[in-house]
Amino acid sequence: MYRRSRPRATPGAVSDTNFRAIVQAEQGDAVTVRLAIDLDPRGRVRRGSSGMEEAGFVGAEHRFHEAEAAAEWAERFTPTAPRVRLFEAMVEQLRAAPAVAATGRVVELGVGPGYLAERVLEGLPAAVRYVAVDFSEPFEAIARRRLARFGDRVTFVRADLLSGSDWTDAVGSEPVGACVSTWALHDLGGPDATRKVYRDCAELLAASGGGVLLNGDFVKPEGTAYRFEPGRFAVARHLEMLREVGFGRCECLETFETEIEHPTPAQNYALLLAAWR
Ligand SMILES: C[S@@+](CC[C@H](N)C(=O)[O-])C[C@H]1O[C@@H](n2cnc3c(N)ncnc32)[C@H](O)[C@@H]1O
Repeated sequence: MYRRSRPRATPGAVSDTNFRAIVQAEQGDAVTVRLAIDLDPRGRVRRGSSGMEEAGFVGAEHRFHEAEAAAEWAERFTPTAPRVRLFEAMVEQLRAAPAVAATGRVVELGVGPGYLAERVLEGLPAAVRYVAVDFSEPFEAIARRRLARFGDRVTFVRADLLSGSDWTDAVGSEPVGACVSTWALHDLGGPDATRKVYRDCAELLAASGGGVLLNGDFVKPEGTAYRFEPGRFAVARHLEMLREVGFGRCECLETFETEIEHPTPAQNYALLLAAWR
């Protein structure tokens, strides 16, 4: 109904050189009001021109337990160049992590179709074993096919990350050098759920004598006017939570496919690292 504002007005600002002003009020992470006002060429408000502008929403539908939906996701989300760059950055960190060499065990949270798992298993020495956690039978079936060539290096654990200590219990008591995840934790539903899983990882790694958590996940980029699903929130909030659950070193190593003007649900992800020192 409305044209896109040109230039993109900052929240609360009025543009007098173009024909559209956007006034926006924000509360926390949510855009609550976005008012569009048309201006005439001299910067005067056109009569009857103001109205609510539809602020976009970024999120995705979650049908993890349906075979067709899992297959569609795997087909749609193949490893493009920036996604491969994320995997490579994670493998580089894992290769450099003393705890991975010492324990020889990496756990993935939300293995999905196994794209990250495949890269990690290829990139690390054959002595490193991989525990692939997921609560979805159809996703696990796809990952089993993709990872079959790695044989008994991979163990599959079917568990819900949000169900108490189910998943950490199932991972077992052998030490773990790293927890990794890509594009999964935002699916848990929001910051409280993410914090719970960050805490589980901190406890699991601490019980193993240290280690590293690498989470490559969708975030809400700074400066966007769009609303994002609750599981996609700012990098700063992730880092705050990681500190809260006990990690000493918490960093955002890189951001990928940043797009604030017209974000799609497949863009805006970051690589977060948490370790003890
Ligand atoms: C987008 S896929 C992950 C992609 C995968 N990391 C890769 O690189 O191929 C997200 C996965 O998280 C899993 N997942 C979502 N919520 C979960 C939960 N509460 N417990 C366990 N797994 C969950 C889904 O079943 C799905 O397989």
